[in-house]
Order: sequence, then C-alpha cells, then structure tokens
Amino acid sequence: MALLCDTRLLLRKVKDLRCLTPRRNRVKEKWAATRPKYPSTTLALRYFDNTYGLQLGQLWPSIRVALLSEKKYGALFNNFCQDPVFDNLEAQGCRDFIIDANTEEMICAAEPSEVVADEKSSCGSMKKSDSEGQPPAPLQLTSQMRCLVFPRGDITRFKPARPDGFGLLGYYLMDAASLLPCLVLDVRDGHSVLDLCAAPGGKTLALLQTQCIGFLCANDSSVSRTLRLRRTLHSYVPKMYLNEEKLQITSYDGTEWGEIERNTYDRVLVDVPCTTDRHSVTENDNNIFRKNRSGERQRLPRLQLDLLLAGIRAANPGGEIVYSTCTLSEIQNQNVVKEAISVAQENHNITLQVVNLNPLTHLFRKTFHFAPDLDLGVMVVPHLAANFGPIYMCKLRRLT
Ligand SMILES: C[S@@+](CC[C@H](N)C(=O)[O-])C[C@H]1O[C@@H](n2cnc3c(N)ncnc32)[C@H](O)[C@@H]1O
Repeated sequence: MALLCDTRLLLRKVKDLRCLTPRRNRVKEKWAATRPKYPSTTLALRYFDNTYGLQLGQLWPSIRVALLSEKKYGALFNNFCQDPVFDNLEAQGCRDFIIDANTEEMICAAEPSEVVADEKSSCGSMKKSDSEGQPPAPLQLTSQMRCLVFPRGDITRFKPARPDGFGLLGYYLMDAASLLPCLVLDVRDGHSVLDLCAAPGGKTLALLQTQCIGFLCANDSSVSRTLRLRRTLHSYVPKMYLNEEKLQITSYDGTEWGEIERNTYDRVLVDVPCTTDRHSVTENDNNIFRKNRSGERQRLPRLQLDLLLAGIRAANPGGEIVYSTCTLSEIQNQNVVKEAISVAQENHNITLQVVNLNPLTHLFRKTFHFAPDLDLGVMVVPHLAANFGPIYMCKLRRLT
C-alpha cells in the first residue's frame, strides 16, 4: 500500500514538472520497435576503429580523440564587406594563415615548389612532367583568399558575423582546411570554373573571393541545398557579381555532366559526398551510418568515381581538376583517384598528370597536421592542438 502511495506521489510530481515545461519544448521519448539498438554515431565509430585502426595504425588513437572533440573553425574573410572586420579579428588574436605562410615562404627563398608524381606510384597512366620536357609550373596560391584562425591550442570561438551597411556579412565560418582545395585549384584571371558538388557553398564563396574568375558554374544535385547556396552567396557577394554572365547555379546530377559539357572548363572542383567522418561520429541527425542508409554508404566510392570522371571530362585539355573529401578513408580518397586515372585513360583517352601537393604540407605545417607518406594527394588529419579536418585533396592536370 505504502509503495502504491509513493508511486502515485512520484507520478504526480512528474506531471507537475511536465506542466512547468512549455508545450512546444516537450519531447516525447520514442519507444517504437524501430528504435535502433545502437546510435549511428556508435556504429560509425566502431566501423572507423576497424578500418582506420588498420589504415592509419599508430596515428588512429590520437586522430580518434580529436575527431570526438570540439572542432576548430576558420573565418573566411569576405573581401566584399565594407566594415573593418579583418582588423577586429586580428585584434582578437586571430591570424590569416594564408598570408602568414606566404610571407614565411618568401623569406625562406625559392625552392622548387612543385614536383610531379613519382615512379613508385601505382597509377599506370600518370605522366611525369619532366619526361614531357616541360618544366613543372610552380604551385601558386592566390593571396585574395583570406582566412583567420586562432593560434594552435587556442579554442576561442568566433562570434557570429554581422552585416555591414549593405547587408553583407563580414566572414563565413568554415573548417579552415576546407579552404585548401580552393587554394590548390589555383584559379587565375578569366578562368572558367566548374564547382560540381557546390552546396552549401563554402568553397564557392571562397572561389568568388578571388574576384578574378571569368565564369563560375556552381552545381549540386540537391535542389534544397542549391537554394541554401544561393542564399549564402546573396549574404556575402554584391549582386553585380552574381549575374548570369558570371555565375550560374544549377541542380544537375553531376555524374551526367560529361553528357552535358565536355572539354570546357579551365578548373574543376569535385568536392564529393563522402562519409563525413567528423559528422558521423558526433551527430546522429542525417548520419550516413544509419542502418537504413547502408546501401547509400556502400555506393559512395562508385558515386565518387563517377563524379570525378565527369569532372575530368568537363575540364579542358591542359585544365586542372581538384578532387576533395572530408573523410580519412583510403577507399574514398586515393583508390577513387587511382581508378579515375586509369578509367579516364582507357575509356576516354584522357591522360592525367598528378600534381604533387607536398609543398603545401610544408607551407601550412604550422596551421594543420598532415598525414605522412600518402602515395597520392595530401590529407589534413584532426589533432587536438589544431582540430581541423579531415580533408583529403588530390590535384590532376589534363595532358590530353
Ligand atoms: C561535401 S558536399 C559539398 C560541399 C561544398 N563543396 C561546400 O564547400 O560547401 C557534397 C555535395 O554533393 C552533392 N551531391 C551528391 N550527389 C551528387 C551528384 N550526383 N551530383 C552533384 N552533386 C551531388 C550533395 O548534395 C552535397 O551537397
């Protein structure tokens, strides 16, 4: 009897507490039979422990800790904003990591900054540029993109950006390592550029900061995400730069691009969908490790290959393509690039040269941690003192 009274009292208290919570904030706990036994984040971590434990060996435990810890942001400075935002950020202790690296490089004198693929690489159709008799062009980084970060070990967060008198925001918060694929794309005056998987638009915005692109096509197969990209651009870029002669935003399936346009662009960015490793171990929402998305996850390498091939075919002979992901997975990174190089040669008679990005790892060694000894491309790996990435990138040049 006493037990029954206690239980009733307890139930009334719970009911009273519910009344204190506004109705809109009440969450009904789901007890459906479909409730997963393990959250997707747990499944992701288990999968990564198995695969990355083998792939990355001793590096994996520290990368794992960083992946599970709070990530660090960079503030992509908006060159179109009229407010003195840059000085304000510097006064808070941030530094532009691109200017810093370039300045140091200039001081350290000119060593050859680009080498091409070496012989031990497993890509049959790769050509070494010296064997072609052409000296490799130096890896140049545009100084128009500016990105501020707090120093190593400093985990201060940026405040949200505020609009200037024209309604344009002062900076865009993003993983600073995401800027590297845009930097290595090396856009020059008048170039035509294709951003094949562009939404939500961080990299498109970074490319527009150069103010030198002749024509930019930003595509993403998701209509809702392309709308988001459009809104982002309108918050940062004056209308005169967003007219149809200079910028087109499309929503095509990028794998079919080869059927739409071939041999057209000077630069192509292929920033593919992937297992988004950091998101997968920290967020259950929209997680690709959910049981009902396992087919989609397994099809990723095929989709990535088709997108990269479409990007390669969209580029001009002589044009350059950057492939990038935010996963540590060798299957989604190096293996996709290797396969694309050989399929491009065999099926489309396109010969590609791999641009060695190792000078980049030296240039930005004070800001990012790079995975050592990758046979193809470079990869920023998360580290507690500089918690950016993962970002993988590989640059290809079309010789034919
Ligand atoms: C990693 S995100 C791109 C991020 C973007 N580049 C940025 O910096 O904000 C990958 C994008 O690929 C898009 N995507 C997926 N499949 C695609 C396809 N077949 N064609 C074009 N885009 C696709 C997704 O909608 C997603 O927005």
